[in-house]
Amino acid sequence: MPARGRYDRTPGEVKVNGANRMLSFGAGPARWPEAVLRRAKEGLDPARFGGLSVLEIGHRGPDYARIHEEVRERLRRLLAVPEDREILLLPGGATMQFAMLPLNLRRDGRPVDVVLTGRWAEKALEHARASGPVRVAASGKEQSYRIVPPPEAWAVRADAAYLHVTTNNTVFGTRLARLPEDLPVPLVGDASSEILAAPLPVSRFAVLYAGAQKCLGPAGLAVVVIRRDLLEAVPEGLPPMLSYRAHAAAGSRLNTPPTALVWLMGLMLEWIEEEGGAEEMHRRTRERAALVYEALDRHPEVYEPVAAPPCRSLTNVVFRLRNPGLQPRFLEAARAAGLVGLAGHRSVGGLRASMYTGMPVEGARRLAEFLDRFAADGGAV
Ligand SMILES: Cc1ncc(COP(=O)(O)O)c(C=O)c1O
Repeated sequence: MPARGRYDRTPGEVKVNGANRMLSFGAGPARWPEAVLRRAKEGLDPARFGGLSVLEIGHRGPDYARIHEEVRERLRRLLAVPEDREILLLPGGATMQFAMLPLNLRRDGRPVDVVLTGRWAEKALEHARASGPVRVAASGKEQSYRIVPPPEAWAVRADAAYLHVTTNNTVFGTRLARLPEDLPVPLVGDASSEILAAPLPVSRFAVLYAGAQKCLGPAGLAVVVIRRDLLEAVPEGLPPMLSYRAHAAAGSRLNTPPTALVWLMGLMLEWIEEEGGAEEMHRRTRERAALVYEALDRHPEVYEPVAAPPCRSLTNVVFRLRNPGLQPRFLEAARAAGLVGLAGHRSVGGLRASMYTGMPVEGARRLAEFLDRFAADGGAV
């Protein structure tokens, strides 16, 4: 049996680009590229804006306006957002959108149809139910969310206000591989855990939204891409802060926006564009996913991937050890190798490797090598 020492590196000894650094596979907040962290550090320099740091400039002034608009322009380019869509930058993460969507899109008390594919879809349903009727159009719950029901199996009714789907299920590691054709109602998608990391045709969605902390940078901010005609139909009488129309009319500066978060997201988007944009991000995502799934599939006696293969997520690889008693050792050995954030979501346990835009392919390779070593050692590290 190999010596224990093979895994014996203290976290502080793990070097990435010369810095002491752990490689985080956490589901969000997620890993940031070193280059972006460096730029963020430089950006805090008070010399940047005539004696003020970016944290101190006014949100109505020209410097912040430039940052804000550049972020929206980059999102439009990177996501290929059609001109008939508005891009909103909103506080409160994706969860705030669970609440705002039904308030803004429900007409005449109509039901909201939801495809139940995991924990976040359940949350979206729960929030929609707080403001009116909801229906489950399809559910993977009986299969413990290992599968995503295919669009042919969805019961979407034409009287629904809209249909809500989660394009990638962060907790169970599944993905909606195909979108429905000829939907009778607007399609609304939560793409928090794969936006820009995986291919998604924005133009197929009436609303596509994402919390930023996985693929786009900072936690606490959401990007909402919404068809403009839906803005016109937002019900009167909503408090402006909860109204997409009011936010759109104010250019997402209705109140003091989270200026630092928007700036940080801008740095992330700038880096993504420099690296080759969406296409390159998708290529890296596929490469990372292949590396890790292939490593798991090489050792079926040790690892059990949770998602049914056709439904596998490209960004959240969820798996279990055949011998769950070894999990604490797995996590400990991974940490010693500089790999952290691998515990599954607290509601389901097991293990999960989340790899979004900020995860280098090399990180996935290191994890795959670790999975091979752990399997070769029979978990006896
Ligand atoms: C698919 C999905 N939707 C929504 C959320 C909630 O995001 P937030 O914490 O930004 O509200 C998450 C968070 O993990 C998620 O993975």
